[in-house]
Amino acid sequence: MSSHKLNRTSFGDPKNSGNLMTIEEAYILLNEWVPNERLRLHMKQVAAVMKAWAIEKENADEKTALKWELSGLLHDADWEKHPDEHCRIIIEELENRNIDPDIIHCIASHGPGYFGVEPSNIMDRMIYAFDELSGFIHAAALIRPTRYEGLEVKSVMKRLKTPSFAAQVNRNDINDAISRIDNSIEEIIQFIIDHQKTVS
Ligand SMILES: [Fe+2]
Repeated sequence: MSSHKLNRTSFGDPKNSGNLMTIEEAYILLNEWVPNERLRLHMKQVAAVMKAWAIEKENADEKTALKWELSGLLHDADWEKHPDEHCRIIIEELENRNIDPDIIHCIASHGPGYFGVEPSNIMDRMIYAFDELSGFIHAAALIRPTRYEGLEVKSVMKRLKTPSFAAQVNRNDINDAISRIDNSIEEIIQFIIDHQKTVS
């Protein structure tokens, strides 16, 4: 079995701090690297939720909000073509492009149990909290005739307690991620519903 452990503690170069790519450049990368529409949608959803959280909850300026959005948009960029080397490949790509180390660290720490990198700031902790829940909520919406319309937090909570529903979503990761932030799981679920329902 291959290990996803990155066996590294530092990512990117501090002198590249503030070096972002444009959202258009990120979409070009995404479209090239991720032919699978379903996976691309997942990344766009996480990006939208990350950006909204930065603006609404962290008072982020435009540049900081873009940083959150880019981290969300690119966090699984190498998953489809390099599943055994996820997320080493996208990390190296962003390092070669001299991208802000905060974005690279955020991607590296979006699954501490897999990659062996601990989330170290609020942006890292939020992507970890949003990632699995975002996919789970989308799965919960897809089985409803009205999709996101009328989807309630309590029904998502109920499905989380049903191990056979979206069984591949690791509930332990969700609980671990939520334990690292100051917000309740209900608040995070509501925020995700509100902000990813219009993403297409
Ligand atoms: Fe993801």
